[in-house]
Amino acid sequence: MGEEVVYFDDDNLIRYGHDETEDFVFQPDVVVKPKDVDQLSRLMEYCNSNQIPVTPRGAGTGLSGASLPINKGVLVSMENFNRILDIDESNMQATVESGVINHNLREAVENRGLFYPPDPASKGSCFIGGNVAHNSGGPKAVKYGVTKDYILNLEVVLPSGEVVWTGANTLKNSTGYNLTQLFIGSEGTLGIVTKVVVRLLAKPKHNLLLWANVAKATTACRAVSDIMKSGVVPSGMELMERKGIDLACDKLGFNNPMVSGSEAAIMIEADGDNMDQLYADCESISELLEHHGIDSVLFADSGEQKEAWWSIRRSIGEVVKTYSTYKEQDTVVKRSHLADLMAGVKEIGAEYGFESVCYGHAGDGNLHVNILKNNLTDEQWNGSHLEEGIREIFRLCKRLGGTISGEHGIGYVQKKFMNEVMTESHLQIMRGIKLAFDPNGIMNPGKIFD
Ligand code: LAC
Ligand code: ZN
Repeated sequence: MGEEVVYFDDDNLIRYGHDETEDFVFQPDVVVKPKDVDQLSRLMEYCNSNQIPVTPRGAGTGLSGASLPINKGVLVSMENFNRILDIDESNMQATVESGVINHNLREAVENRGLFYPPDPASKGSCFIGGNVAHNSGGPKAVKYGVTKDYILNLEVVLPSGEVVWTGANTLKNSTGYNLTQLFIGSEGTLGIVTKVVVRLLAKPKHNLLLWANVAKATTACRAVSDIMKSGVVPSGMELMERKGIDLACDKLGFNNPMVSGSEAAIMIEADGDNMDQLYADCESISELLEHHGIDSVLFADSGEQKEAWWSIRRSIGEVVKTYSTYKEQDTVVKRSHLADLMAGVKEIGAEYGFESVCYGHAGDGNLHVNILKNNLTDEQWNGSHLEEGIREIFRLCKRLGGTISGEHGIGYVQKKFMNEVMTESHLQIMRGIKLAFDPNGIMNPGKIFD
């Protein structure tokens, strides 16, 4: 395939042997960075005939270990698939290669007055292909939905080397099984996405951002539920516990908006084209917050202020990781049960002896629970006691009408918990689907289920 495509050196094997999941490193036998679909197709055909495991990788920002080459073999990095191929303004859609960085797509379409909403915290580095593989969300999901709501069609290379399109570049499509949606969230276990056709919206002209410190995080959760019930649909409703905010402000060198006595903060954004309507919406939101005893509401008064608050929010995962290795749980429940989830997580932590930093997308009932290693020994960290504590969190999610991942996927680290929310028949159906695409089991083996 050529020297500039195939890498065996230690630096590459280590670099591509980890993503953002805990401190795992699994070195592959070889790293391959294909330059085009034809090359990738020939590689897949070869690996399939020789039963060599293939682990696809986007930007390596994943938090469930889906791109860890746990069975060695070939690590396929999609970084050379980085071209925006077409922005079709009249049909409000774009076609990009799967290694395009989320932010680059957003910027390119925003220059034409268009908008691609899904904005994971890692939007500055994550690839669209990785977003597809995990059905990524982000803060804007509360109003605009997640990756699955914007994908019209995918070009994929199957394990056999065949190249297929999963759907059509149309807004409607009732033509047989929906293979596009099947690939979304499949975490590279069915094939490798090479091109992505996304639908776009018109870019909202204005936004307002407010920040409210809250004495109790559970109060904020209840307020969030009431705001959504009131009919106002914010474009972001983010909850952050104090420790995450403190660490982020220290790291970024920003003024800390938290006041003493506050356990958490919520950040709420409203966007749209009519400024008067936005002020009215924010007024209603403030009144509802006040009704819950949250009265110190701050408004961002400049673009810089908005960017600073969003940077605090987006950097929490990363700064907590610098502070301590953590196990990240991507819990999600019915929105009105978020307060019960939050309270339950803290009770389970007290019982099992772990500290957690919680933050996330309150408007979606999606709470990231980062369990800190702190002074736990490796035995305690990897032992059955902590695992049982995590299982308790997932059982709680299920009791509250939720599930074990909202947007980070199952990958390598959460697969052992799948049985908490799925029956054996459900898992058998998934295994059957996997077999139809990948009879030799070479595609990202050991992810989602064994
Ligand atoms: C976030 C990522 C971790 O919300 O999902 O920051
Ligand atoms: Zn998130």
